[in-house]
Amino acid sequence: MRVVKGFLVSLLLSGCAARAFAVYTPDFDGGVDVKLAIQAAIESAASAGGLVPEPARPAPERSVWVSMEKNDVGALDDALFKRAPVAQSKKIAVYEFDAAELGRLADGMHRAFLRAPGFFAHDTLEAALEDLKTPPAPPARAYAVDQELRVKQALALVKEDSIVSAIASLSAFRNRYYRSATGVDASKWLQREWGKFAQNRPDISVAPFKHAAFPQESVILTMRGTTEPDKVIVIGGHLDCVAGGGDNPAPGADDNASGVAVTQEVIRALVEAGYKPAKTIKFIAFAAEEVGLRGSGDVAAAFKKAGTAVDGMLNLDMVNYKGSPLDIYFVSDNTSAGQNAFLGRLLDTYTDYTWGSFKCGYGCSDHASWTKNGYPASLPFESTFEQYNPFIHKATDTLAQTGGRAEQALKFARLAVAYAVELAK
Ligand code: BES
Ligand code: ZN
Repeated sequence: MRVVKGFLVSLLLSGCAARAFAVYTPDFDGGVDVKLAIQAAIESAASAGGLVPEPARPAPERSVWVSMEKNDVGALDDALFKRAPVAQSKKIAVYEFDAAELGRLADGMHRAFLRAPGFFAHDTLEAALEDLKTPPAPPARAYAVDQELRVKQALALVKEDSIVSAIASLSAFRNRYYRSATGVDASKWLQREWGKFAQNRPDISVAPFKHAAFPQESVILTMRGTTEPDKVIVIGGHLDCVAGGGDNPAPGADDNASGVAVTQEVIRALVEAGYKPAKTIKFIAFAAEEVGLRGSGDVAAAFKKAGTAVDGMLNLDMVNYKGSPLDIYFVSDNTSAGQNAFLGRLLDTYTDYTWGSFKCGYGCSDHASWTKNGYPASLPFESTFEQYNPFIHKATDTLAQTGGRAEQALKFARLAVAYAVELAK
């Protein structure tokens, strides 16, 4: 199974790079023994000190179960889909493929749609069948904006400088790839940094969230609620980054050191303000987003399994590049319309920022994992989809691209502070 996953990962990576470069190089074996090729690649990279070797690996399985939209299947019109789907619902079909066929599928998708693969691959049929279910819509709720004093107190403490230095530290790792040694180091570094906020605050704790299938850990800082600790607000973004995969240099300054830096600045400002939420706030840096939302997928599924009541999730992914005329754009698909409207009201109440919205057209980031598990989630984004940062997923996604500044990210830090205080009351 692992081998299939590893294979899929490289496939998805090629997908990311493809969208960024608009050129796709299939990254699959074309008849080579996948098990041997991948094992050899992992061993040689591990002996070069690049990748973290995994312990015992089970025998590979060639089958993967792919769920995708029937509309996409029709538009592709590829011989791959001559086979019957093994299951389907009104909009989604599940196919059993050989792992070696995934490259061709991704290639076809890119030629047809010029975007990231709009499919999810799973190790088991059971996991794929979950995608046939319509995600439970979160119950409609009222959002009140009435914490002016506390919001303004905390807003006054948010600083561009501390965002800049956090982006600088995170983008200084060679890469934060979810399987590389430096990707693991970056997570450990963040755990130590966030651990500092827990000093003299018994209500704050920091813990890694370990993932069974890869070494990079997600990081969770919990600010325990004073009166309604069982209700949880989640604020965060992905910690990993990628530029072609493996141990390639990938500073990922905008995608997504910026979102993690803003998350950290919200924690810092709230701690400096001496703020104590009524509900619990969990600040999360997700591992392994770039390879199919795997980190947030694990975390959101674990929260759902534990019956955790998540009142809202704010995803911060790409917040420091001003590519479009308006200040902030809300992604309108795979998100909560009610919570998006609340965020717009927060901007109108506490800032002069202009805002709009657009559709990703697919589950483009970690909010989709929370939506899938029935929680209200949002993605405020730095630009429109057409004008997104052209340097992401490349070695040139550096802080220097924004002149060493974080003016755009500062807007998101302010929005996230207002969101935390107005929702965790
Ligand atoms: N930050 C991007 C998502 C993004 C990029 C949104 C540009 C809007 C505009 C994210 O890290 C990413 O690259 N996601 C993948 C999809 C994921 C499921 C592997 C992508 O979009 O290729
Ligand atoms: Zn991203």
